[in-house]
Parts: sequence; C-alpha cells; structure tokens
Amino acid sequence: MTRILVFSGSARADSFNKRLARMAAASVQQQGGEATFVDLRDYPMPLYDGDLEQASGVPEHARRMKALLAEHQGLIVASPEYNGFITPLLKNTLDWLSRPDGEESGLALFQGRVACVVSASPGGFGGMRSLALARQLLVNLGVTVLPDQLAVPRASQAFDETGGFVEDGNRQRLDQLCARLVETVDRLHRG
Ligand SMILES: Cc1cc2nc3c(=O)[nH]c(=O)nc-3n(C[C@H](O)[C@H](O)[C@H](O)COP(=O)(O)O)c2cc1C
Repeated sequence: MTRILVFSGSARADSFNKRLARMAAASVQQQGGEATFVDLRDYPMPLYDGDLEQASGVPEHARRMKALLAEHQGLIVASPEYNGFITPLLKNTLDWLSRPDGEESGLALFQGRVACVVSASPGGFGGMRSLALARQLLVNLGVTVLPDQLAVPRASQAFDETGGFVEDGNRQRLDQLCARLVETVDRLHRG
C-alpha cells in the first residue's frame, strides 16, 4: 500500500492549510493510497536549540514524528505563507526531523521519499512564494518533490462549510496532484 503522510505548517484550529491538507489526505485515499493526516498541534516541539539537543537529545514528539515518517513513502506538505516565507512551525518541525537520533542519520529518513507541496492563503497568490521555499527545503533534505503544485488564493472564500472547495477547478487540480503522487510512489516502490 502506498502510504502518504500529510501535514500543514499551521497549527491554527481554523487553518486553511489544515483544511487543504485534510482534503489532500481524503483525495489520496480516493486514489487508492493510504493517507495519514497529522496535526502539528499534536506534536509540539521546542524551537531548535543545539544546547537543548546536546543535553536532552531529539524531543519525544520529534521522535514520534520521525517514526511516523519512516512508515510512509510519500509526503504532502500544506505550506502557509508568512512574509513570503514558510512558517517557523514548518521549518522547526523539519529541522528537528532532520536531526540524527542514536545510530540513525537524520537525512536517511527523507531519502527516497516523494512529496508534493500545496498552499492556501487569503491573499491573491495563494501562498505561492512559500511553495518555492517549501519545495527547496524538502529537496535539500533529499526528498524528490513533484513539479505539480497547488496554490489556493482567496482562501476565505475558497472552502465551503463541509470542508470542500467552492470551485471545481481546485478540486480537480488537487485530485490530479494526489493521483500523480500516489502513482509515482507506487512505481518507484514497485520496481
Ligand atoms: C506573520 C504573518 C505574515 C503573513 N504574510 C503573508 C504573506 O506573505 N503572503 C500571504 O499570502 N499571506 C500572508 N499572511 C496571511 C496568511 O496567509 C494567513 O494568516 C493564513 O490564514 C495562514 O495560514 P493558515 O490559515 O493555514 O493558518 C501572513 C500572516 C502572518 C501571521
């Protein structure tokens, strides 16, 4: 089974990016994959600090999330945009996940994984600038990031009350993206 881990770089209860991540997880399931949605609110981690790491090692929630990622071949990251950048939450989470833990190299966890990046913003560009940076960060970690991506602009009007999209175009683009991710992971791990 193709397993995809899905999370958003926002912990906010009403986060548009969490909504988008949940929809991506549902879409992966529809494409025949198995998706695990993770709310980063449930994995609080201290701000990365080398002294803290030296004194106490990788924090428990980072270790739990590393174990979860190890069970998934694919990744979907919904990346909100703060001042044209990815959020500190997303950067901090990925920084902790990239740290070695005991015998295990941190970066080995990311190698061979395939990802897609998506974003949503109340603004007119949908957080597109954060997508380029989230993509770059994942590539730096050794992840293969698919060229396809989705930025949902005017997010306050883009989602309906049931958690779906108001516009069919967004739904189609998200389904296409998730289908391509499931297919790519499937091919890589089958062959
Ligand atoms: C510090 C800060 C900076 C922001 N900068 C941008 C920005 O550069 N571009 C943008 O589209 N939205 C920006 N926003 C608005 C966010 O896109 C908006 O708060 C969004 O709802 C955050 O994602 P979430 O709904 O998933 O929490 C910013 C918000 C904050 C708090």
